[in-house]
Amino acid sequence: MHSMAETAPLIQTAEPLDPSFEISLRPPMFEEFAGQKKTVERLQIMVEAAKTRGDTLQHILLSGPPGLGKTTLAYIIGNAMGAEVRTTSGPMIEKAGDLAGLLTNIERGGVLFIDEIHRLQPAIEEYLYPAMEDFKLDIVIDQGPSARTVRLNLAPFTLVGATTRSGMISDPLRSRFGMNCRLDYYDTPTLAAIVSRSAGLLGSELESGADLEIARRARGTPRIANNLLRWVRDYALVRAGGRITAQSAAEALQTLDIDADGFDEMDKRILDAIISLFDGGPVGLNSLAVAIGEEPGTIEEVHEPYLIMQGYIKRSPQGRVAMPKAYRKIGLPAPTTPEQADLFNSGS
Ligand SMILES: Nc1ncnc2c1ncn2[C@@H]1O[C@H](COP(=O)(O)OP(=O)(O)O)[C@@H](O)[C@H]1O
Ligand SMILES: [Mg+2]
Repeated sequence: MHSMAETAPLIQTAEPLDPSFEISLRPPMFEEFAGQKKTVERLQIMVEAAKTRGDTLQHILLSGPPGLGKTTLAYIIGNAMGAEVRTTSGPMIEKAGDLAGLLTNIERGGVLFIDEIHRLQPAIEEYLYPAMEDFKLDIVIDQGPSARTVRLNLAPFTLVGATTRSGMISDPLRSRFGMNCRLDYYDTPTLAAIVSRSAGLLGSELESGADLEIARRARGTPRIANNLLRWVRDYALVRAGGRITAQSAAEALQTLDIDADGFDEMDKRILDAIISLFDGGPVGLNSLAVAIGEEPGTIEEVHEPYLIMQGYIKRSPQGRVAMPKAYRKIGLPAPTTPEQADLFNSGS
């Protein structure tokens, strides 16, 4: 997936590096889930109300960049409801029969978690609508003259959908979710708390300030924070007698070529390409992808959101534009022509 694996450290990945490592660090309940206060509060209220009334929980859509806790929240919701969680993902559901198999196996009040729900085929989505609304599934069986529709009644269930691309969810699908939660990047103190909790679970002791050294470079993302922690532990073991101090953590992260802002090779390459190869932009996603040798989807889902949120780049209708902060980052003065000022200031 990462064509630049030999130069870019595999810390920022859309997928977990090591699923078992992730599972062991995954908070099992709302109380242990750090940050995202508003989202957590809304979900807790929904869960409590549903339990009090003995109702099935409404369908919930979770969106946001990779590694912010969507899968974790899906399991927390299931745990809190005392419900079984079945997991699948958009691309795994190939035929209507796959969906029928999943839905007919869910117990009453159970949770179906569909990850990457924006990648569901349109035809499958159509089947999902009545299932979500009325807990009914109309399946066409056989072909030709003997084709007929069979209606299956489903046990009431809760669909939890997750997506890194909420813009790609169709309106009819979106409108069938009772709650739409957008996860935000985490601030440094919250990430530091997550790092400390993870270190505790891994049986590692962090000395003063080490949590912050890691948190500051985690690009607002718990998954990256945990991956960096794992690297810092390894480094400390081999190079620092096992002591994870602020200094050994900083050294460990420098060894990965992750700078003080958490930028890795690929981030720098993106800014550098927009500025040096495309005159600061606007440049289309595909041209940018070719120039730096990365998949357009990975740029768009993994790298760009953070660069945009931090004000390094902007998406304009004509393409990506490097902002003054990007020029400063790579040590160049920002251009001052009126045309460029228009680009910086135009709405995105
Ligand atoms: N709010 C949080 N508090 C503590 N750990 C978190 C939190 N959010 C995510 N994590 C950690 O980050 C990892 C990635 O989260 P995950 O739910 O898999 O992200 P996503 O599904 O959004 O890509 C999890 O294994 C978990 O350990
Ligand atoms: Mg996930």
